[in-house]
Amino acid sequence: MKVEFFKHNLDEDDIRRLAEACRGVMLTTGAEVKSFEEHFAAYLGLPHAVGVTSCTAALHLALLACGIGEGAEVITTPMTFVATSNAVLYTGARPVFVDVDPVTALIDPRRIEAAITARTRAILPVHLYGQMCDMRAIRAIADRHGLKVVEDCAHAIESARDGVRPGALGDAACFSFYATKNITSGEGGAVATRSAEIAGRVRTLRQHGMSTSAGDRYARTYSHWDMETLGWKYNMTNLSAAMLQGQLDRIETLWLSRERISAEYERAFDTAGVGFPRVVGGAKSARHLFTIWVDPARRDEALMQLQQQGVGIAVNYRAVHLLTYYARRFGFARGMFPIAERIGDSTITLPLYAKLTAPEIAHVIDVVTRLAT
Ligand SMILES: Cc1ncc(COP(=O)(O)O)c(C=O)c1O
Repeated sequence: MKVEFFKHNLDEDDIRRLAEACRGVMLTTGAEVKSFEEHFAAYLGLPHAVGVTSCTAALHLALLACGIGEGAEVITTPMTFVATSNAVLYTGARPVFVDVDPVTALIDPRRIEAAITARTRAILPVHLYGQMCDMRAIRAIADRHGLKVVEDCAHAIESARDGVRPGALGDAACFSFYATKNITSGEGGAVATRSAEIAGRVRTLRQHGMSTSAGDRYARTYSHWDMETLGWKYNMTNLSAAMLQGQLDRIETLWLSRERISAEYERAFDTAGVGFPRVVGGAKSARHLFTIWVDPARRDEALMQLQQQGVGIAVNYRAVHLLTYYARRFGFARGMFPIAERIGDSTITLPLYAKLTAPEIAHVIDVVTRLAT
């Protein structure tokens, strides 16, 4: 049996909507993007969402819109994808890593204050695997020190924790619609925020810093545009927006399937003594990724065996500070963030998506539990 690592959920209606968008005049940012932005903001319960080309772009622009730049330090986690800390580097700021909680793999708020210096300007928590960080604790620390909070919600559209949803306490929340995400347009992203000012800045910065977009110019009689600030080319297209709309309507049903599969994995792995990050009480995980923790000495061999037995796998993630560029540029070494390092050396991500069948789930459980014994 071959169990794919991921299958997307685009259905025939989504494909029809995409085809309709292709038949229209405006392939780039236009009415469909505006409609998706409103739809997405309403789903999150936030007033503003701005569609961009990726979560990497969303993080870059959200940080810039929060005033982060040259000379600043941004506190984040080493247990994440490189996009998180790379976006900090794009702004000219420096990422400052703080170790994670050994139970959840999320940034440990108890360690954040010790990392704050006179140059710290923001905290960038990552809601890893779909579970939100303790945003009440992080917001309180940020407020005590006058810092911005930009949330990496690449894994966390459907999440909540202690009644808090993505973007509710942060200054900006950044989302991904990359190929393997819970809803996807192949590539895509969004910034959602309570702040009209931050949304406005992101809107300008996603389009070269220009005062109007092509869609605006198409909809009106011609008037000259200006460029008041240096921006980037990160605007979402109508084609991406068209693919996302129907998936957003079905997002809770899709989530429920992954929640049930995760519960089945958790029951089986608890019985077999296989470790995995825990979802804390009071949290709704978006259930984006399901990772297990195996003996670091046997992890790479276990990856091979899973693949040989037809189970699609990934590694999310090896600790960022130990990757060559970060280690060389900043002098990071083993031992600096030992919990993230141990998790990075132990982790294996298993298939988790709504289309997994009962025999496929049983096969994954069977192969993993046989590895463990
Ligand atoms: C935690 C995290 N942050 C950011 C990103 C970047 O997302 P994108 O590929 O949309 O730029 C990813 C992508 O996988 C991610 O997993």
